[in-house]
Amino acid sequence: MEASSSLVVLTLACLATLAFLSKIIFSQSHKPKSPPGPKPWPILGNLNLMGPLPHQCLHKLSQTYGPLMQLKFGSYPVVIASSAEMAKQFLKTHDHVFASRPQTAAGKYLTYNYRNITWAPFGPYWRQGRKIFMSELFSSKRLESFEYIRVEEIRAFTSRFYALSGKPVMLKEHISRLTLSTVSRIVLGKEYFSESQFVTSTMTLREFQDMLDELVCLSGVLNIGDWIPWLKFFDLQGYVKQMKALKKKFDLFHDYILDEHKARKKEETNFVPKDMVDLLLQLVDDPDLEVKLNRDSVKGFTQDLIAGGTDTSATNLEWAMSELIRQPHLIGKATEELDRVIGRERWVEEKDLENLPYIDAIMKETMRKHPVVAMLAPHLALEDCKVEGYDICKGTRVFINTWSIGRDPSLWDAPEEFNPERFLGKAIDVKGQSFELLPFGSGRRMCPGYGLGLKMIRCSLANMLHGFNWKLPENMKPEDLCMEEVAGLSTPRKFPLVAVMEPRLPIHLY
Ligand code: HEM
Repeated sequence: MEASSSLVVLTLACLATLAFLSKIIFSQSHKPKSPPGPKPWPILGNLNLMGPLPHQCLHKLSQTYGPLMQLKFGSYPVVIASSAEMAKQFLKTHDHVFASRPQTAAGKYLTYNYRNITWAPFGPYWRQGRKIFMSELFSSKRLESFEYIRVEEIRAFTSRFYALSGKPVMLKEHISRLTLSTVSRIVLGKEYFSESQFVTSTMTLREFQDMLDELVCLSGVLNIGDWIPWLKFFDLQGYVKQMKALKKKFDLFHDYILDEHKARKKEETNFVPKDMVDLLLQLVDDPDLEVKLNRDSVKGFTQDLIAGGTDTSATNLEWAMSELIRQPHLIGKATEELDRVIGRERWVEEKDLENLPYIDAIMKETMRKHPVVAMLAPHLALEDCKVEGYDICKGTRVFINTWSIGRDPSLWDAPEEFNPERFLGKAIDVKGQSFELLPFGSGRRMCPGYGLGLKMIRCSLANMLHGFNWKLPENMKPEDLCMEEVAGLSTPRKFPLVAVMEPRLPIHLY
């Protein structure tokens, strides 16, 4: 009796062990094979590894774990692509899988509940919005029709600069004014803010610029509630409170603009759309649209246009001038080209740009070393997908680290050096075809405003170099210039560039 019961116990023990082992083996063979990455902590995941400059922290981690790595931010898996080849996998090979955006507080509170393009999830609304951007607002005909605005605004900018000759000037303030004035006139028809008083309310240019800066900053913050959903309610960092307050300010601004545009349309008998808001309002009344647009859509799209085009271009130009001013011989090469191609009797026009390869190279080198969007806006996996033999699960957030790609020594010699020559005679473009240089992203989510952005940056840069001699303030040496960054949705300089310029063209041109 005793022998038989011990046999039963032994048999049960063997069966239990077998079941346990087979469970381990079975679960291992079905466990997704995730890309390598650091071990996550409970609750926080790897958020503890992030500092104030996440793109730099992730760059360092990629040197340990490779160009495709997986981390966990709070409750969500996050994949970082840090090489041109990996960027291509997400933005070209599997672009359809990764063409959505995660839902964030910024998208909800700052963009009318995802009714803009940037934060809209992949689907019919986003697809239609993009079609409107590409075919209605940014067609080459439309961009050409607004050239006179860009010309007038660059002239006004160079005149303002001329008046400041010989004095230390905070460059970004003036460039932001140039890009904001240009984009406002293209999108809204005129500038709705003045140096002193907003026509109806009390909004000044400074106040509006501060609102835009706050928008860019809040759109790029690492908001704990986005990553650990059960902490959302507490708004631990106070970001959601700030977003709601900012949304109210923008709403007042948008309401004023839309009402004014509608009133003008009512008054004019043979109404012809003059600006992008007119075009968008016309589409709200279009019965043939696949997805109906409403007033919030127009506000969301308008905000995309103003925010997308203003800070990005200004940040880019400030970085370009910061690098050039540290190496005056590069400014010498640029002005040699400008004197040869343009001469000293006129300003640079958009049609000249194709004949200015050195200016183009400076712009590309700036975009390589200081990509304004250091990590492309987050992409979201819509379904499970295999990339390079690894399993990327549905719901994973994907970041493309263009800052890292621009410093990849297998792609660039001496990547820390600012050397525009590296682009001369090379067929590397910035329009999403060359994965080693992706300032505007690539694929379905690529920046729709790249054409306007490129025109504004190249023409402003060429005229700034053509029209003025540049130097640092007297007490400053090139090696003293701090080149640190701050992170947000864009990556500007930590300390604004202060420079002194003198005119270099005949006085009657200013
Ligand atoms: C130097 C100028 C600019 C740079 C560097 C830039 C860069 C970018 C980048 C990197 C993205 C994200 C791509 C991705 O998610 O993969 C983006 C998206 C976007 N940009 Fe730009 N941009 C610039 C100018 C503009 C301008 C002038 C506008 C409009 C007036 C604009 C409107 C947008 C919009 C609406 C999106 C969202 C696209 C989507 O999610 O489908 N950008 N931009």
